[in-house]
Amino acid sequence: MKHPQIPTHYRQYRVEGLHFWDIRQIAQLERLVFLEPMSVSQVCRKYFLSRTRYLVVKDQGRIIAYFGFEVLGQYAHVLANVTHPQYRRQGLAAFVLTRAQPWAERLGAKAFLGEVRLSNQAQLEVLEMIGWKQLGIIPRFFGNGEDAHIVMKVF
Ligand SMILES: CC(C)(COP(=O)(O)OP(=O)(O)OC[C@H]1O[C@@H](n2cnc3c(N)ncnc32)[C@H](O)[C@@H]1OP(=O)(O)O)[C@@H](O)C(=O)NCCC(=O)NCCS
Repeated sequence: MKHPQIPTHYRQYRVEGLHFWDIRQIAQLERLVFLEPMSVSQVCRKYFLSRTRYLVVKDQGRIIAYFGFEVLGQYAHVLANVTHPQYRRQGLAAFVLTRAQPWAERLGAKAFLGEVRLSNQAQLEVLEMIGWKQLGIIPRFFGNGEDAHIVMKVF
């Protein structure tokens, strides 16, 4: 692996489950960073599924990073992970993704599985650092025609 250590600046933070009243903040972050964001009602529908979890990191009540996943059989499929632009490169994505594993295991998952845009070098770097593997490419996976790397972390 390129980096043997997860950055440690995040130590002042903790990971917690998303509260219903914070769903709007997730949708705002989705709109801020994604080409194909989930709306408030879409996040809300996911939130109420027993197989779905959104884990968040907050700074004074404001969500600064999150990771959502949905367990399907033995896989926890990635919905999204985001770090607010003002809080990047502090290890928050690596932190929340790593802390999520026991939450996914409690729902019966044995691995994380996701799709990452070929252009998303930041996400690919984070995942490589914490031991995720790239399995292959699916052509034109995303709505705008971009290819996806299939990524996986076996627990
Ligand atoms: C991808 C993303 C979640 C990374 O969040 P982050 O909290 O800044 O990531 P981390 O601080 O945990 O990064 C850990 C390591 O990954 C690598 N990395 C992170 N961002 C990088 C970038 N923009 N370029 C190159 N390497 C990067 C670095 O090795 C970094 O360690 P370092 O800062 O000590 O060099 C964030 O950029 C983001 O929210 N992007 C938009 C949403 C998105 O694309 N999500 C993923 C698809 S669902």
